Amino acid sequence: MKEEIDYARYDRIRPIRWTGDMLELLDQRKLPFTVEYVACRTASAVAVAIHALIVRGAPAIGIAAAWGVVLAARELDATAGAIETAAEAAERLEPVMQQLNAARPTAVNLAWALARMRRALANAGDDWRTLLFREAQAIASEDLAANHKMGKLGAQLIAKGSGVLTHCNTGSLATAGFGTALGVIRAGVAQGRIDRVFAGETRPWLQGARLTVWELQQDGIDATLIADSAASHLMKTGQVQWVIVGADRICANGDVANKIGTYQLAIAARYHGVKFMVVAPSSTVDMATPSGGKIEIEERDPGELFGVGGVRTVPEGVKAWNPVFDVAPSELIDAIVTERGVVERPNRVSMQTFFGH
Ligand code: MRU
Repeated sequence: MKEEIDYARYDRIRPIRWTGDMLELLDQRKLPFTVEYVACRTASAVAVAIHALIVRGAPAIGIAAAWGVVLAARELDATAGAIETAAEAAERLEPVMQQLNAARPTAVNLAWALARMRRALANAGDDWRTLLFREAQAIASEDLAANHKMGKLGAQLIAKGSGVLTHCNTGSLATAGFGTALGVIRAGVAQGRIDRVFAGETRPWLQGARLTVWELQQDGIDATLIADSAASHLMKTGQVQWVIVGADRICANGDVANKIGTYQLAIAARYHGVKFMVVAPSSTVDMATPSGGKIEIEERDPGELFGVGGVRTVPEGVKAWNPVFDVAPSELIDAIVTERGVVERPNRVSMQTFFGH
């Protein structure tokens, strides 16, 4: 079996670009029909972009927030006179970091990236500006390397001739490049293991329909879109052997928060004897959260459910509830793939062995 992966073919999109003096974010609200970057010159603009889903996906929002801190440091220099010490910079940057952290609550990668930026400042001297810049660069480049590693590790679990179903978007658009779950799918296709790829639409924001199948189309990977509600029927017909998803937060007991609908996919997969794989870098693992019940689940504007593509489909006066993540309990998960290795049948003990230090 061909093990090497042609990344030039399978990884063409970059959602986050640092230009040297500003951050450019690919506006994911407008994809696939408009490819347009939004220029962010301030940390506040980055926080707004994260909240508005201009940039989205757990690793990508962490990377964007790290660059937001770099922008905030430049704003400080421009407006507040000379900042003398790293400690003074840390104190002045803290409110901005809190603003970035509050942009979205569920994906732990945001808090993780900001904690790294804080640590970089705490260890810095006069060189704090350079160290912040290098840390943001490192967060992005380590994410890309982790995705390449996870792609290979995850693909090894998949038998030749398999079909897979994915949910939401976990590709280049959601990361520094290549993707997590979509990286495994790319690697599995490149290695000739995966014959059939299905993607759920992912209502209400349509990450699957607007983003995932668009990414795969650019790779020349044949993918079939399904309505989210077709997933159980797809499994029953024997066309998929794995459900492969990303994660926004993985708890100390192996419970996984991910895009709303993931939980029902995990239940349906177990019922139909389909395996369930979660792919996420170790930056998504949160050993400080003991189990899924403790995760804050983001609830967004119910208005997201009232229409499609800006066209209202629901009568006026109707109420809606719009939680955008849910938690798949660890007992429904066959494998968690991280760049550190594969945790099979995750539980508190195996999670502690992999991530407890
Ligand atoms: O609301 P989103 O689009 O940011 O949600 C994204 C997901 O749930 C992804 O599956 C998760 O962040 C992993 S992305 C590699």
